[in-house]
Amino acid sequence: MAKIKPSKGAPYARILGVGGYRPTRVVPNEVILETIDSSDEWIRSRSGIETRHWASPEETVAAMSVEASGKAIADAGIEAAQIGAVVVSTVSHFSQTPAIATEIADRLGTDKAAAFDISAGCAGFGYGLTLAKGMVVEGSAEYVLVIGVERLSDLTDLEDRATAFLFGDGAGAVVVGPAKEPAIGPTVWGSEGDKSQTIKQTVSWDRFRSGDVSGLPVAADGTIKFPAITQEGQAVFRWAVFEMAKVAQQALDAAGITADDLDVFIPHQANVRIIDSMVKTLKLPEHVTVARDIRTTGNTSAASIPLAMERLLATGEAKSGDTALVIGFGAGLVYAATVVTLP
Ligand SMILES: CC(C)(COP(=O)(O)OP(=O)(O)OC[C@H]1O[C@@H](n2cnc3c(N)ncnc32)[C@H](O)[C@@H]1OP(=O)(O)O)[C@@H](O)C(=O)NCCC(=O)NCCS
Repeated sequence: MAKIKPSKGAPYARILGVGGYRPTRVVPNEVILETIDSSDEWIRSRSGIETRHWASPEETVAAMSVEASGKAIADAGIEAAQIGAVVVSTVSHFSQTPAIATEIADRLGTDKAAAFDISAGCAGFGYGLTLAKGMVVEGSAEYVLVIGVERLSDLTDLEDRATAFLFGDGAGAVVVGPAKEPAIGPTVWGSEGDKSQTIKQTVSWDRFRSGDVSGLPVAADGTIKFPAITQEGQAVFRWAVFEMAKVAQQALDAAGITADDLDVFIPHQANVRIIDSMVKTLKLPEHVTVARDIRTTGNTSAASIPLAMERLLATGEAKSGDTALVIGFGAGLVYAATVVTLP
């Protein structure tokens, strides 16, 4: 048997830079109320959302990703040509193939970086970060770009009062690269496929192949509705509140720290009441800065954690070198939590 040379990577990995892109159009709750029977007060008090951003036709998944990534690359102080891999987490890129990551890698000016998409819903950023850390430490890439990007407005049924107010659009990106000290802790992640139907697409794409439109959802104006995200809100809410606090605690334990050692908590931005409940269960001390970016961003799935991270750093609420607990969870159901040092 031939002897194969082992690959050689960095001793550790860390997030070196972060960037975000929020679409220009800001959509207040009043716009949502044009299509559902609800109130600004209900939406604010039940979800925490005041406004969200919706992308224009020009603000495509690729365009938003390129903007966010450019900022992350500049923040990391590297050149695009140094990036060895581009990982894009999204559920709202509408071409089955090719992956959008290859176009983004090319538009950024990488030197033929490896590029692929992953589908891990609202845990997508944590999944991508875990892959990136592995690549840097294993040595298949020195720098990895991880992008979470969504145009969830394309997958929102504006006549569904259970979801119309929840989702937003945007892109967040980080550059992961070599480090001398551990700066991304062990990931606690998993899936609960027995609950796969609690968050799902209303209609599978292949339903449109047959030409038989019977039973497909119809809009108020009589047209067939585009598939949208639907969820069992209460079931997901309970799962997030009870199970995800445990996963967050496991990530702290795996990193060998306690809540007292934390500076920042960046949970997936799904509902401000879920965030508040996790803060309570984890007994996070007063000094911990908690991301509540959902108020003005809504739920942007895979983009929510890097967008919230970027904003906390930009506003000075968090600073470089802070210790942050990040946790994403959603469709699958899937989850991923880890402790990171902020770039
Ligand atoms: C969607 C969500 C905000 C709804 O909040 P909720 O408190 O669970 O609301 P419920 O569905 O229990 O409905 C409560 C009441 O409000 C009503 N209601 C539902 N949607 C409403 C709306 N948009 N406006 C006004 N009332 C509404 C319901 O009809 C119900 O009325 P009733 O008590 O008379 O029957 C919440 O369930 C949630 O955030 N779920 C988890 C979302 C999540 O984490 N998703 C992860 C995806 S990544």
